Amino acid sequence: MDQSINDLSVIDRAHVFHPSTHAAQFARGEIPNRIMTGGKGVYVEDRDGRRSIDGFAGLYCVNVGYGRHEMATAIYEQAKQLAYYHTYVGHSNDQIIRLSERIVRKAGMGMSRVYYGLSGSDANETNIKLVWYYNNVLGRPEKKKIISRRRGYHGSGLMTGSLTGLPGFQNHFDLPLGRVLHTGTPHYWRAGKPGETERAFSRRLADELDALIRAEGPETVAAFIGEPVLGTGGIVPPPEGYWEEIQKVLAAHDVLLIADEVVTAFGRTGEYFGCHTYDIRPDIITIAKGVTSAYLPLSGSIIGEKVWSVIEEGNDKFGAIGHGWTYSAHPLCAAAANANLDIVDREDLTRNARETGAYLQAALHDAFDHNPLVGEVRGVGLLAALQFAADPDEKTPFDPALGVGAKVSAAALEEGLIARAMPNGDILGFAPPLIITRGEIDQLVAMTKRAVDKVAKDLGR
Ligand SMILES: Cc1ncc(COP(=O)(O)O)c(C=O)c1O
Repeated sequence: MDQSINDLSVIDRAHVFHPSTHAAQFARGEIPNRIMTGGKGVYVEDRDGRRSIDGFAGLYCVNVGYGRHEMATAIYEQAKQLAYYHTYVGHSNDQIIRLSERIVRKAGMGMSRVYYGLSGSDANETNIKLVWYYNNVLGRPEKKKIISRRRGYHGSGLMTGSLTGLPGFQNHFDLPLGRVLHTGTPHYWRAGKPGETERAFSRRLADELDALIRAEGPETVAAFIGEPVLGTGGIVPPPEGYWEEIQKVLAAHDVLLIADEVVTAFGRTGEYFGCHTYDIRPDIITIAKGVTSAYLPLSGSIIGEKVWSVIEEGNDKFGAIGHGWTYSAHPLCAAAANANLDIVDREDLTRNARETGAYLQAALHDAFDHNPLVGEVRGVGLLAALQFAADPDEKTPFDPALGVGAKVSAAALEEGLIARAMPNGDILGFAPPLIITRGEIDQLVAMTKRAVDKVAKDLGR
């Protein structure tokens, strides 16, 4: 083997601090590394020439697929013309102006302005600052608490890691910070009571939220943040009536709604925004990932009229807003976003997510509805999950020590498919690039079936 290639693996273990990785095992070489070298369409390739269907689009972000030269050209052309200039004190660039107009127009829902960052986490940090600012301008300094859901995911920063309702992102980091409250997870299969309808379950969750806000005092609760479809917490579409019921409670207590669309925006659920799919009327929307298909990092906080008018009022009272990132509205990232959204529109990828997504959902149901390892098959558009259970009828979880989700994911990789073992429970997640075809879905499902069968056999089932 070429020694220089071999060294790369050693250097990786010696010097790269990988996110969401067991650092000690990785350093000792006890868990595999995979050095990625290329990608084309829905496929990625590593330095050993192993090719996989990327059934998770990186981290649900490479929506237009890999190797799009049009994206590279747009970034290159912008880099030659103007690689960077800041957007402080009224400076701007043509790419970000065009991008903002199209995002606001496509969103509708009374959206007004876009503030840019580089990650979903920083966008949500911005959102929380703006919500606090909003209530300060309105003379309500007590109204500051933010409610998120258990199993919600909103990032890994200090505040956003606090909002994320997954203990693994908080334990031993001294999180959550104060002013953060958590409410119930809208997962009917897991938490619905015997005989309870989905609608009744949604109402129960709304009642729980209402009781929490009343107990805390509505004058102390500023905002609710939620993903239209719960993502990293297990890819769980909302139960029937959920958003309708939740929005009634928020309106009754004058609590702002932040829709975290980092995963769902730009087509993934089969509509341009997840809010369109579920009739959500947010005050602020978080975007990232699919806005550039991750060719360059870009995130945004889309601010609705109601909050925007108060920001203007606040600036008239207190002066220019003291919030800025060096790379906000970066022209290269904006050029990537415009080229990416051109592809999304031209190839009608939202429609593909809806139609090929329906094909994926049906194929997964066909293959796994009666599988002895699978408790629930769920999803919407090109987002889907298999929930494994020791006893699917009783919904009994597997012993976590068995690592069933991780084992199926590893077996899928052996088959040539990347499907993500979600970090909460034995769940296998799918979020392929939005360009995926029915033929590729057939392969993805067949590979998943073989992987599940292999693990079933290993478990003696
Ligand atoms: C819904 C949601 N919000 C926020 C984030 C954080 O985004 P980032 O990892 O870019 O900080 C993620 C990341 O997966 C996400 O899924």
